[in-house]
Amino acid sequence: MTASPLTVGLVGARGYVGRELMRLIGNHPGLELAYASSRELRGQSVAGYLGDADTDLRFEALEAEELVQRPVDVCVLALPNGLAADYAGRLDDGNRIIIDLSGDHRFDNDWHYGLPELYRDRAAGNKRISNPGCYATAMQLAIAPLAQFIDEPPHCFGVSGYSGAGTKPSQKNDPQVLADNLLPYQPIGHLHEREVSHQLGKEVRFFPHVAEFFRGISMTVTMTLAGAMTHGDVRMAYERAYGREPLIRITDETPLVAAAAGKHRATVGGWQLSADGRRLVVFATLDNLLKGAATQAIQNINLTCGQRELEGLSDELALEH
Ligand SMILES: NC(=O)c1ccc[n+]([C@@H]2O[C@H](COP(=O)([O-])OP(=O)(O)OC[C@H]3O[C@@H](n4cnc5c(N)ncnc54)[C@H](OP(=O)(O)O)[C@@H]3O)[C@@H](O)[C@H]2O)c1
Repeated sequence: MTASPLTVGLVGARGYVGRELMRLIGNHPGLELAYASSRELRGQSVAGYLGDADTDLRFEALEAEELVQRPVDVCVLALPNGLAADYAGRLDDGNRIIIDLSGDHRFDNDWHYGLPELYRDRAAGNKRISNPGCYATAMQLAIAPLAQFIDEPPHCFGVSGYSGAGTKPSQKNDPQVLADNLLPYQPIGHLHEREVSHQLGKEVRFFPHVAEFFRGISMTVTMTLAGAMTHGDVRMAYERAYGREPLIRITDETPLVAAAAGKHRATVGGWQLSADGRRLVVFATLDNLLKGAATQAIQNINLTCGQRELEGLSDELALEH
């Protein structure tokens, strides 16, 4: 006898992340979308919005109080920063697993910080899961294998496609501003700078930019090492950390962001060392909407519910590089 699928409710379903989540949930043999909440798309068909989905659901505009009355195994909040905490507070009665894609619980020790490749040992059985930020995932994957050998705060130069700014119109997703351009913003105190410093227990410096392409993050991290290392030492540290990780590819080549789009996997590597072996540059690329958001949320649901971590993510096209 096969177990019935876990039911998932999605709030913020119209957004870029919500859309990816509906697609991944639809392809997952162990999950079933129970509701998709959007104020703007209320009444419209989910299949029509996604183009090719096999579902009869229609979008509903559900307030937090109404969600409490809608039993599901998992409720995913893909809401803007600052809005999810109120929903989570009302839904947090122990009757469902809550996955928050926003930054609202990333500094809260009562929530599990769901970056499986670094914190998998604490992943099972959590009912409150805070999904990491997209740039923050790229920074942590690039830094973590050498975090204990770093002397000074690493400098992280990040460039994101404009889907990282969400659908609400702003300078960061304005085609006219971005055309043939690169937009730097918030070079001090960005949420993801604080998030990575908090999670790794090490200060980092982060310089975010947004570019004209739609999806993907290119992260260039410069670290000063406490003692000299060789290229072989560095490669071995990353091999040890990620050699068995199906969603992280390590490479000697400089990874390029275009190859990350539409893929579940992040790529880390392209290491360059100074002659004295103390200045190291590492590159990371990933799809902000997948490994930076929806893919990671599915890993987290699978892990906390005791399913195979990559269940629903084994689509060959999205795994290849
Ligand atoms: N985009 C990324 O690359 C990325 C990566 C990692 C994490 N995240 C995080 O994931 C979350 C969603 O990001 P996104 O890019 O998908 O954002 P988005 O495209 O702007 O979508 C936001 C969603 O929230 C809903 N919403 C907005 N204001 C609302 C309100 N006052 N009450 C109820 N619903 C509201 C919107 O739907 P309606 O207006 O139709 O209700 C929409 O579905 C954010 O917290 C973001 O920081 C984003």
